[in-house]
Amino acid sequence: MTVMGTGYVGLVTGASLARLGHEVVCVDVNKDKIRLLKSGGMPIWEPGLEDIIRDAELEGLLDYSIDAAAAVSCSDAVFVTIGTPSSESGEADLSALWSAIYAITPMLPDDGLLIIKSTVPAGTCEQIEAYLRKRLPLSSRIAVAHNPEFLRQGSAVRDFLVPDRMIFGAANPETHNRLEEIYAPIQSPKIKCGLREAELIKCASNAFLAMKISYANMMSDLCDALGVSVDAVAEGIGLDRRIGSEFLRAGAGYGGSCFPKDLRALMALAEREHLDMELLKATEAINRRRVQVIRKKLESVFGGTLNGKHFTIYGLAFKPNTDDTRESPALKIYSMLQEAGGRITAYDPVVTCLPNLQIDLATDMYEAAAESDCVVIVTDWDQFRDLDWGRLRQLMRSPYILDARNMLDTAVMAANCERYGLHYMSLGRPSVTPDVPLTIG
Ligand code: UDX
Repeated sequence: MTVMGTGYVGLVTGASLARLGHEVVCVDVNKDKIRLLKSGGMPIWEPGLEDIIRDAELEGLLDYSIDAAAAVSCSDAVFVTIGTPSSESGEADLSALWSAIYAITPMLPDDGLLIIKSTVPAGTCEQIEAYLRKRLPLSSRIAVAHNPEFLRQGSAVRDFLVPDRMIFGAANPETHNRLEEIYAPIQSPKIKCGLREAELIKCASNAFLAMKISYANMMSDLCDALGVSVDAVAEGIGLDRRIGSEFLRAGAGYGGSCFPKDLRALMALAEREHLDMELLKATEAINRRRVQVIRKKLESVFGGTLNGKHFTIYGLAFKPNTDDTRESPALKIYSMLQEAGGRITAYDPVVTCLPNLQIDLATDMYEAAAESDCVVIVTDWDQFRDLDWGRLRQLMRSPYILDARNMLDTAVMAANCERYGLHYMSLGRPSVTPDVPLTIG
């Protein structure tokens, strides 16, 4: 197998295919990345990935190359896992994907299988198929398939090897069967469908998950106004099997490289069909507004202005167990606090540098809170679950904690506030702190 692209999806795909017993070459145009991989380095932080990479390398089932031609020409199947980021218009930018297709087409074996795993707008795989028909000899029996991934960063290896379902998009049963053969060891349900259906399933799946999150966030605003707990509402509705309790956690909103991008691409696709995806527009708008909800919550304890206050941001990654900060809510909160005249120190257990941002990054989470007026927890890393609250309070100038992920138990925090004179806030949950005298230094 060849896997084109060694990003989050490509590396997990390559290592997992090797785990299934296939011989895999991961190809990338980025020479530095290939050099790093060949020298035993890891370009991304993903729990469990290094273990399966090392095992596969030891069994001689995984290698890396910048020479796509050599790899593709002797592959039974070529997986394309190249990024399809948002373009200015919101449409998926397929330029990198197409340049890879142009580059490898002459080398595709006659009976090869080109499997697009990248997230692409419905209709893309048919365009790729048409291109190959035009470029390759009539005798070529090359087949195109779409096999979207549903990998969550932080659990990507598990999500690949034990998926809820596998989607096999293809134009004919023979190609469906070839995909089934590749994934034979995986027992999950396998859905065989057309290319467009497979492309749409992926975007529709992410858009629905994002919509669930925005629904929870919209309800949390109402809960804040009514003084009720969004935890109770989320639990009460989530126990209905038709709703499901996952992805109903209110907080700072969704980030990452997938939800925002896939929503924009789906809306752009629908717009081309003159359809208005109101639910997705609302999903995006609610998510965008989370920063202002957080700003108002902070202003309510600082007399209406954040100017001159010192804030500590706990967490920069868009979610725990990853080093990925793409479209992270933490970066949006950082900009909002900066614009409001706040002074900010940030701490993240894994994200230790942000080259294109001048963020004051602390290496220790307690040092990050020294002289702080408010600690804002934005990424629900486990490290923030059992902090030494007494030590934290002594280091801080004012007693405020905003848990923007509702990750801490309100009863436990009520006791901690009582004991250490803290003022704990979260989103869509009643305040747990008796009015503490303001001790802004
Ligand atoms: C997502 C999809 O889950 C995955 O199937 C797809 O392949 C890629 O995109 P990922 O972006 O890695 O995976 O992370 P996910 O766990 O889905 O969380 C996305 C964002 O939503 C994170 O910022 C997370 O903090 C936020 N989130 C998640 C919530 O705010 N509330 C929730 O209840 C769940």
